Amino acid sequence: MKITVAKSAGFCFGVNRAVQMVFGLLDEGKQVCTLGPIIHNPQTLQELESRGVQIVESPSQTPQGATLVIRSHGVSEAVLEEIHRLGIAYVDATCPFVAKIHKIVSEASAKGQTVLIAGNATHPEVEGIRGHCQSCYVFKNAKDLEDLTSNFPDLKNKPACFVAQTTFSVAEWENCLEIIKKVYTNATIFDTICNATAKRQSEAVELSEHCDAMIVIGGRQSSNTAKLRDVCRQNCTTYLIETAEELPLSALKGAASVGITAGASTPASIIKEVLVTMSEIIENAGANSTENADTSF
Ligand code: F3S
Repeated sequence: MKITVAKSAGFCFGVNRAVQMVFGLLDEGKQVCTLGPIIHNPQTLQELESRGVQIVESPSQTPQGATLVIRSHGVSEAVLEEIHRLGIAYVDATCPFVAKIHKIVSEASAKGQTVLIAGNATHPEVEGIRGHCQSCYVFKNAKDLEDLTSNFPDLKNKPACFVAQTTFSVAEWENCLEIIKKVYTNATIFDTICNATAKRQSEAVELSEHCDAMIVIGGRQSSNTAKLRDVCRQNCTTYLIETAEELPLSALKGAASVGITAGASTPASIIKEVLVTMSEIIENAGANSTENADTSF
């Protein structure tokens, strides 16, 4: 069996930065709480919990004396105002790429433009972006944008600004762009899909085209992990797992080539664990089967 690990698998810059900020505060002896889970990875969350990190749902739940960390998804202006109003000590771990979207939509709103966001309306990143807009709409795919256009016929004549959730599907964004360029002639378009996401998705597509099976490692709550699974399963049998224990070993037995990728919240240690478990199984099954394994990542 040949095992190939996608080079772009795992932690992205923004998530890594946020997690390191939390560990940095803990090392300074601070009491830390995070506004929502800092990462969609249960194992890392358990480790943080064991070091006393608390997850709060709103700034007002921050315990006295604790430092609140805003996660990489960012927050709305209203939440930031609440943090300031309550005088809470905080560290902003908003990914700079998300912060850039906040700046784009704030400036567009100041110019009186309507903001149209390609993304999942209930995802925290999109909720945060919406909270920096005066007037905005969210659409989840090209079909949704078509519906929006027919439900609000005036929209296409207004000055508008289009942005995308950083983890939006590159292929779906291209479908949307066809409509935007044809119908929204007054619009300014910002391609705000994160490079790390785009690269991870395109590598996953390419790898899955050449493999019998794909293993996608990541949290079940992670939207970028779910998207990786979706793009891979168009090309081959795909399994989403959170840890090495969940490897579908018997199902993988017949596969000649297996690709591995991982979402932005998956630590390198878990990817390594999956790889080691698979390599051990291959070795036990016969010395020849490991000869093509690409175990570097
Ligand atoms: Fe930031 Fe891109 Fe990661 S937007 S949080 S570096 S997926």
